[in-house]
Amino acid sequence: MTGFARAPGRVNLIGDHTDYTGGLVFPMAIDRWTEIEYTTGGDRVVLVSADEPEPVSFELPVVVDPATVLPGWGRYVAAVAAELGATTGIRGSVSTDIPVGAGLSSSAALEVAAGLALGHSGTALDLARVGQRAEHRATGVPCGIMDQLCIAAAVEGHAVLIDCTTFEITPSPVPDDVEIVIRFIAQRTLEGSEYGERVAQCAAAEAAIGPLRSATLDDTIAIDDPIVRARARHVITENQRVREFAAALAAGDYRTAGDVMIDGHRSLRDDFATSTPVMDAAVEQLRTSRGVFGARMTGGGFGGCVVALCEPGAAVEGWIVRPVGGATRT
Ligand code: GLA
Repeated sequence: MTGFARAPGRVNLIGDHTDYTGGLVFPMAIDRWTEIEYTTGGDRVVLVSADEPEPVSFELPVVVDPATVLPGWGRYVAAVAAELGATTGIRGSVSTDIPVGAGLSSSAALEVAAGLALGHSGTALDLARVGQRAEHRATGVPCGIMDQLCIAAAVEGHAVLIDCTTFEITPSPVPDDVEIVIRFIAQRTLEGSEYGERVAQCAAAEAAIGPLRSATLDDTIAIDDPIVRARARHVITENQRVREFAAALAAGDYRTAGDVMIDGHRSLRDDFATSTPVMDAAVEQLRTSRGVFGARMTGGGFGGCVVALCEPGAAVEGWIVRPVGGATRT
C-alpha cells in the first residue's frame, strides 16, 4: 500500500511556556509542511530525505534507543515508531519546507507525519501525545503538547485556543483584514537550552503554590525564590493574555490584540528570560513600524522567530503565513 502523510509547521500567536503547566495557548498551523511519501510493508523503516545524503534505516519493533538513530532527524521517526509499537515497516522519502531550528515546530511536524505514515489511527489528541512522548525520548527536551496538538488538530483559516488542562480545542477565525508575519531571527535548538530549567522552575513554583493555571498574582508572594516567582508571574499573566488576545482578535480590535502581544513579549523577556537581545530589537523595530499592531517572540525562544500582527500590505521584513488545517494522510 502506498500513502502520503503531511503535517504543517505552526506559529504560536500567544501563550508561550504555559502548556506544560496545563495553561492556555493560541497557535495556528502555517502553510509549510513536512511530507512523507511511503509504501507500507516489511519490518524496517527506510526513509530518504532530499536534504540528507544518508537514509534513515532501522528495524521494527524498535529495540535500539531511538535517541541514537542517525542521521539526527531519524531519532524522531524511531521514537514515534517505538511509541506506537509499530511492527509494519515503511519505505519512502521525507521532504520539508519548514525551516529547521526556527521555533516553527519542524520536529513536531515530522513526529506527527511519521505517526500517520506508521499507521496511527486514534484521535488527534492521541497522535499529539505520541509525538510529544517521542520528542521527549528523541531529544530529552521535556516539551509540552502545544506543537503536536496544534499540528494534529488545526483548522483551515483558524488559530486554535487550546486548554492544556482539558485539551479542549476552540478554533478561532484569523480575520482576512490582518496578516500574520514571521521574521526569522536565529537558528537554535531547545536541546541543551534552558528550556528544561524553565519547566523545572515552573514545577518548583507549583510545588510552592499549587497549579499555576488557577493561581493568582497575589499567590506568587508566597514563592521565596525571586526567579521562580518571576517565572510564575509570567505563566499566570500569559494565561490571561491568551484570553485577552483571542477576545480582541475576534472583536476586530487589533490594536488591543497587538498591545497584548507586546506585553507578552516583555513578560517572556523580563520574567521568563527566554528572549534574546536580537529578538528584543526585532520586536521593538516591528512595534514602531507602520501597519504593525504588535509583535512578540514565538515558541520556546532562545532564538527562532518573532511573529507580528499586521495590516494587510504592511511593508515589514518577514514572510506572511496562512492558517492551514492539521495533518492528513491520503
Ligand atoms: C516549545 C515546546 C512547546 C511549548 C513552547 C513554548 O515549542 O515544544 O511545548 O512549551 O516551546 O510555548
